[in-house]
Amino acid sequence: MINIVLFGKPGAGKGTQAEFLKKKYNLTHLSTGDIFRFNIKNETELGKLAKTYMDKGDLVPDEVTIQMLQSEVDKNPQSEGFLFDGFPRTLSQAEALDNFLESKKEKITATVALEANDEILVQRLLERGKTSGRPDDQDEEKIRNRYQEYNEKTAPLMDYYKAQNKFHAVDGIGTIEEITDRLSTVIDSL
Ligand code: AP5
Ligand code: MG
Repeated sequence: MINIVLFGKPGAGKGTQAEFLKKKYNLTHLSTGDIFRFNIKNETELGKLAKTYMDKGDLVPDEVTIQMLQSEVDKNPQSEGFLFDGFPRTLSQAEALDNFLESKKEKITATVALEANDEILVQRLLERGKTSGRPDDQDEEKIRNRYQEYNEKTAPLMDYYKAQNKFHAVDGIGTIEEITDRLSTVIDSL
């Protein structure tokens, strides 16, 4: 089994790249953001709760997110591997994921980060906000708050995975195809 964490700031291209990588490596793509949005659309209790945080650009509480992610993994017992997109985003989530996988005699194979400068990404998200309908894309203050959440809570995970010798980074600026190639080079070398 190969389990990859696709890591990167908001708008770095995780979802875009996941579409290609999941097919190429036959992985189950789990985006916590997409799962929350699906729940919001369907007006589930989980969706209603998540929305109060997401609309402001805040992270959803760990207990809720961890439980949801674990249940999504458990829905895919035949999977040949997972591509985690937007999870983990806090140290507790990373530790919970390691413990959960260990309980299944599995582990994270590698974390691959898409690197890009904040200013380019803020522009990308503002541009997408014109059509995405995502409340968290629509004003610069909310977007900036997503970066603040990333810097405070998510960026420390780079050291967590470096300490396990599992952290790899690629340049996230370029064409979509160029970036898929860069990510594939890392995954093929694992
Ligand atoms: P989530 O949905 O994960 O959003 P995000 O990480 O903030 O950012 P995106 O998904 O918007 O970016 P992406 O990196 O996937 O880039 P994309 O491919 O879309 O999370 C949303 C919210 O949910 C969080 O704020 C939080 O509230 C909650 N949440 C989710 N996970 C959580 C967790 N684990 N814990 C707690 N809360 C959680 O691309 C972005 C744009 O750029 C697109 O328009 C795309 O077309 C464009 N683009 C992509 N690649 C390129 C390229 N190479 N060149 C030019 N443009 C490109
Ligand atoms: Mg995404």
